Amino acid sequence: MSDPVVFLQSLSQALAALGLYGAGHPAAMRAAEVAYERLLDLQAVRIRLDFTFLAGEVLFGDEVLPALAGWEWSARLAAAGVERIELVEAVLPDAFDWLVAHLAARVGAVDTVDPRQSGPSSIRLGLVKFAGNGAPAPDGATAPVIARLSYNLHDEREMVGWIHDEVRDGNALPLLEADAVVRSLSLAMYAEQAMVLPLLQLKEYDQYTTTHSMNVAVLAMALGDFLELGPAAVRSLGFSALLHDLGKVCIPQEILNKAGPLDERERRVVEGHPAVGARMLLGSRDVIEIAAVVAHEHHVMIDGGGYPHLPGNRGAQYASRLVHVCDVYDALRTRRPYREAWDSEQALDYIEGRAGMEFDPVIVRAFATMMRRWDRRVAQMAAMTVGSGDSPTDASLVAPVAMDMGPGFYHSRLD
Ligand SMILES: [Fe+2]
Ligand SMILES: [Fe+2]
Repeated sequence: MSDPVVFLQSLSQALAALGLYGAGHPAAMRAAEVAYERLLDLQAVRIRLDFTFLAGEVLFGDEVLPALAGWEWSARLAAAGVERIELVEAVLPDAFDWLVAHLAARVGAVDTVDPRQSGPSSIRLGLVKFAGNGAPAPDGATAPVIARLSYNLHDEREMVGWIHDEVRDGNALPLLEADAVVRSLSLAMYAEQAMVLPLLQLKEYDQYTTTHSMNVAVLAMALGDFLELGPAAVRSLGFSALLHDLGKVCIPQEILNKAGPLDERERRVVEGHPAVGARMLLGSRDVIEIAAVVAHEHHVMIDGGGYPHLPGNRGAQYASRLVHVCDVYDALRTRRPYREAWDSEQALDYIEGRAGMEFDPVIVRAFATMMRRWDRRVAQMAAMTVGSGDSPTDASLVAPVAMDMGPGFYHSRLD
C-alpha cells in the first residue's frame, strides 16, 4: 500500500525502536526494514517526496495529512530542527539507515551518532521558511512552503541566554541544556554536504555573551575536528567553549559594553571572570572538569602573559590554548561598542602575528588554514546566491566589515 501516513508511522516506530533497543538489535533492525519497505512502496509511485512537520500538522507535498494532526513525532522532529524531509532520488538502504540514525540522534532518542556522517545526496533535511512575511500561515491554511536548508539557531541562542540567567540567579548550571546546545551546534555544523560554519551575527550588544559563546563553541569544535581529535574530544571542546565565559554573567552590562577604557576597578571585575566561571563550573554537579580548566585559562598567553597568572608559570592546557585562539578570533570579528568588527583576514593576520607570544603557534597554523579554507567556501557560496533573493540567515558568516581600530581599540578587551 502506498500511503505516506503508514510510512511516517513506521518511520517513527523505527526511531523509537532504535532508541529503545539500540543500534544492531534485531527489533530495531526489523522496524527500520519495515519503514524502508513502506518507503519503497511510496517511491514506486513517485520518486520525489516531501514531508513537512509543523506544530500540530504534517504535510505530504502541499497536502495536509489529517490522520497525523497533533502527531507527537511531528512536534519532536520540528523541535529538533527537522521541519522538512525531502527525498529527491531513490533512497538506497544505506541512505535510509543514515536517515533513521540521524533523526534518532536529532530527537534525542539515541545519545549520539558520529555527527560527521554527512547525509546522502538522496535525502535533504532542514527548516521551512514560509513564503511572504516569514510568519506561519493562519491555522488550517495550507501554506506554500519553501524548503530552506539552513539553521537559524534562535532556540539555541535563547537556551544559552536562559542558562546564563539561571547561573546569574544562583541556580544550578543546567548541564543537560548546555549539552543539548552543543549537540545542536554540532549537527548544524555537519548538516548538509556543503559544510559551513554556522556563526551567529550579533544583533544587540546585550546578546554578546550568548552569541559569542555559541560562536566560540562552533569554532572550537570545527578546529578540534580539523585537528582530528576525535568525536569525544570535539564534543568536550564544544562544551568547554560554550561555557568559557560563564563568569561574565556576573559582570554588569555597563562594564561589558563600556565604550571607553576601563578604570582599575572595572578591569579587576572583568579580569575576575575566568576564576568566577571556573568556580561556578566546579561547583555544579557532574561537571566536565576540562570546562572549568578552560574557563580558568582561556586568557592565559603562551608567554605567561594574560590573566590569571598561573602558579609556577605552568602553561595553559591544550584545550584552553585552542579555545583562546577561537575566542580572540570571534571577538575581533564582532563589532563592539568600543571598536569596529574586523574582517576574517585581518583577524587571522593579527592572530598569526602573535603566534608564539600570545597563541600556540601550532594551533594558530591549523586555525588559520581551516578558516581560510572556509572563507573561500563562504565567498563561493555568496557568489552563487547573489541575485537569488535569499536574505541572509542568522547563522552565516558575516560579510567583511571595514576595520577601524581607532582610539577605542583596547587589546585587553579582546574577549
Ligand atoms: Fe573570557
Ligand atoms: Fe570569550
